[in-house]
Amino acid sequence: MNAIAAITRATRFRRAQAQTPAGLVPQVRQPKFHFPDDLPKYWWANDPARTLLLAALSSGFPAGERFFIDSVRHYQDRIDDPQLQQAVRGFIGQEAHHSKEHKMLNGYLEQRGIGLGRLEQEIQDLLDWMRKTFTPERQLAHTVAVEHFTALMAEEFLLKYDALEEMDPRMAPIWAWHAIEESEHKAVAFDVYRAIGGSEFIRLSEMLVVSVLFPLFTTVHLVQLMKEDGQLGNLKSWAGTLNYLWGKPGVFRKLLPSYFKYYSPNFHPWNHDARALVAQAKRKWLDKDAG
Ligand SMILES: [Fe+2]
Ligand SMILES: [Fe+2]
Repeated sequence: MNAIAAITRATRFRRAQAQTPAGLVPQVRQPKFHFPDDLPKYWWANDPARTLLLAALSSGFPAGERFFIDSVRHYQDRIDDPQLQQAVRGFIGQEAHHSKEHKMLNGYLEQRGIGLGRLEQEIQDLLDWMRKTFTPERQLAHTVAVEHFTALMAEEFLLKYDALEEMDPRMAPIWAWHAIEESEHKAVAFDVYRAIGGSEFIRLSEMLVVSVLFPLFTTVHLVQLMKEDGQLGNLKSWAGTLNYLWGKPGVFRKLLPSYFKYYSPNFHPWNHDARALVAQAKRKWLDKDAG
C-alpha cells in the first residue's frame, strides 16, 4: 500500500514539472554599447565593492559563454524537436553576443585600471581544463547548472531590485540586456540535456561543483580587485555590499530557495515564470526595435 502511495506521489510530482512555454524562442538582438570616458569609476551606486563584484562576474563571461555554446552545440544534431532546434540557434546567437560585448566592456574597464585581463585568463584556463577532462555530458551539465545561476542573478537580483536604477544610466543597459536574455533562454541547455537523456546524477553532482567554484572564484576575484584598487580596507563599502546581498534587502539570501529547487527531481527552469518582470524590463531598457 505504501509503495502504491509512493508511486502515485512520484507520478504527481513528475506531472508538476513545467515545460518551456510553446513558441518561446530566444530572440537574437545586436545592441551596440558605448562607454564614455566620463563614466564614474564606481558606476554602481558609486560603490567600489558592488561595482567590482559585477566587474569580477564580467571577467568570466567571454570564455564562459563560449564554453556554454560549445557544450550545447556538441548535441545540436541530436535534437529532433523543431522548437528546441530553433531555441538552440537563438541561445547560441545570444550567448555569442554576450561574450563579444562583455569582452569589449572588460577591455574598457581594464583601460580604466581594473585588472580583468588576468582574471579572464584564469577562467579560460579552468574552462580549457574542463574541456579536456569532462565528458561532453558533464560539460553540458555544467552549462545547465551555471545557466540556473545566471537566471537567478538575472530574475531575482538585477531585474527584481534597484540595481539597474542605481547604476550609471550609461552602464545599466548592457546589464539589463544580458539579464533579459538570460531569462529568455534559461531553459535551452536544460531542455537539450533532457532531450539527450542526460543523467540525473551528473546534473546534480555538477551543480555541487558549480556551487563551490562560482562563489569561490567570484569572491577571490572580488577581493583581488578591491586590493589592487586600494579598497581592501574600505569597510563601509564591504559592509554595505554584504548587507545588500545577505542582510537587507538580502538579494542572495532571498534567492536561496530558488537555488535549492534545482535539486528537485521535477525541477524545470520554467517552474519559475518571470515573463512579466522581463516584459517590464524590456519596455524600460531595450530599444523598441530591439524587442
Ligand atoms: Fe549570457
Ligand atoms: Fe546564458
